[in-house]
Amino acid sequence: CGIIGYVGPQQAVSVIIEGLRRLEYRGYDSAGVAVGADGRIEWRKKAGKIANLDEELAARPLPASTIGIGHTRWATHGGPTDANAHPHLSADGRVALVHNGIIENFASLRAELVGEGVAFRSETDTEVAAVLLGRELDSAGDLAGAMRRVCSHLEGAFTLVAIDARDPTRVVAARRNSPLVVGVGRGENFLASDVAAFIEHTRDAIELGQDQVVVITADTIEVTDFEGGPVEVNPYHVDWDTTAAEKSGYDWFMRKEIFEQPRAVADTLLGRYSDNGELVLDEIRIGPEELRRVDKIIIIGCGTAYYAGMVAKYVIEHWTRIGCEVELASEFRYRDPIVDANTLCVAISQSGETADTLQAIRHAREQGSKVIAICNTNGSTIPRESDAVIYTHAGPEIGVASTKGFLTQLIACYLLGLFLAQVRGVKFGDEIGAVMDELAGMPPRIQRLLDGADEVYGLAHELIDQGDYVFLGRHVGYPAAMEGALKLKEIAYLHAEGFAAGELKHGPIAIINPGMPVFVIVPPAGRDQLHDKVVSNIQEVRARGARTIVLAEEDDGEVDAYAERVIRLPRVSTLLQPVLAVVPLQLFACELATALGNDVDQPRNLAKSVTVE
Ligand code: G6P
Repeated sequence: CGIIGYVGPQQAVSVIIEGLRRLEYRGYDSAGVAVGADGRIEWRKKAGKIANLDEELAARPLPASTIGIGHTRWATHGGPTDANAHPHLSADGRVALVHNGIIENFASLRAELVGEGVAFRSETDTEVAAVLLGRELDSAGDLAGAMRRVCSHLEGAFTLVAIDARDPTRVVAARRNSPLVVGVGRGENFLASDVAAFIEHTRDAIELGQDQVVVITADTIEVTDFEGGPVEVNPYHVDWDTTAAEKSGYDWFMRKEIFEQPRAVADTLLGRYSDNGELVLDEIRIGPEELRRVDKIIIIGCGTAYYAGMVAKYVIEHWTRIGCEVELASEFRYRDPIVDANTLCVAISQSGETADTLQAIRHAREQGSKVIAICNTNGSTIPRESDAVIYTHAGPEIGVASTKGFLTQLIACYLLGLFLAQVRGVKFGDEIGAVMDELAGMPPRIQRLLDGADEVYGLAHELIDQGDYVFLGRHVGYPAAMEGALKLKEIAYLHAEGFAAGELKHGPIAIINPGMPVFVIVPPAGRDQLHDKVVSNIQEVRARGARTIVLAEEDDGEVDAYAERVIRLPRVSTLLQPVLAVVPLQLFACELATALGNDVDQPRNLAKSVTVE
């Protein structure tokens, strides 16, 4: 979910709606806004996207106000209805509250309140907190005091932002395990899930830590812990501007972000390689001694980040000879994994806020393991709670389906692999410099693929009537195939499966129907023993009548006989090939979803940043 609070001289409703639009990628099942005016709370909320809320506001405008809160929702408790949309009000309507996260003990709290005669208007956990806040306010006297008391009764993950009808000067928020930043303006202040919400007003921000309460007025910001004690805060300046969060002429953020990949990859590499041939990752705050002691690496992530992790496993094992496991964050945490002080945990997360990944690293650290985060969002929770971080510097990613996030995660994984090899003095054939040179050559190669976008778009239009897709790859081509299938599921809502090409014959080949499109990623020719095996796999599906769309190196003539279509990839070494192979698959999914009339940036049922487990 995305949340925002504002106090200052501007019209609160416009600031909030504008902010919500920039946060909509975090959830878009419903949206709502509340303002304080004339000693009352006034609110509007609507199921569906912010456009529905706009219509509601046009039909029933809110009064002028200088204080307000807003919310865009990704439903957890209670379906996406008008009633379940935020804000929620206390029983007497004095307090309005928006919430991100899940209050895990809400059922028992709600049952208690129902027993006392409270009538709830929604099915949400949030309304329970709103009712409690209203009650505590009566006895505590001020909203911040009430907020502290309520938080001590709540379990789970939450960010709460509230206003009191009788005090139109302050917005009060609390944070535990869900994101919240303060935007520091001149004569106005902001609270939001991320800086995108207020970037057009200020680029000065303050990070909040766990279990903190913040009170903003137009001129003051006061941060305390849940007991009311003072805490140190961490101010920072945001180094990107509003144009980075705008579409700049593209129809979708996703398409813009695909085309930004040469730049994004170059930015990930920037400044990582010193003149004397050493890799420099200055965000690694773990000593070389400790890194040399590592005897196992566990890579964790969700969705696209997990597929980047699968590539990382091949790369890091090959270069460092340390055993690497890769696991879905949601599975890792609850299976009693074997991790100790000699385990290095690598957490990959574009947003840095994914709750499954966050819980996984917390568990790893409790077992004494060190954690390195690979992340795109400065100051987000996962890097803050890690021992070290490699930022990908891709710039804000708004499209829900990750693209430049993925490519830059791959680059960061290569850098980490090389770095670990360097620290541990491992020789792996090629010198580090040779790999770095090849990485430095990736942006123009990605550009060449983007220059050929029209051909891929043509293919998407040809295949528009197809409902089922298969993607095949081996070795690092396997995660690239999985990622290609995921893009199609996410935005085209089509049935797409990624398989290890060699595994196909052990079952999945039974699903191949005549005419079914099968994308096959072929490893580099000549230098790679797997190449011929994948060429055989193409023949196997071709023999069952599949339409074979083959991604192969530009001078690979061997595939021609078995390919209905060939998409040519610039020549690179095997381990780096996913950086290129995935680009046409992104373009294909984006174009097909567009042609199907889907909302590419905000696909149904998904959210960019999933802050619940
Ligand atoms: C969500 C998004 C996916 C993303 C995953 C991990 O499910 O819809 O696109 O890959 O979270 O996100 P992260 O921010 O941790 O990389």
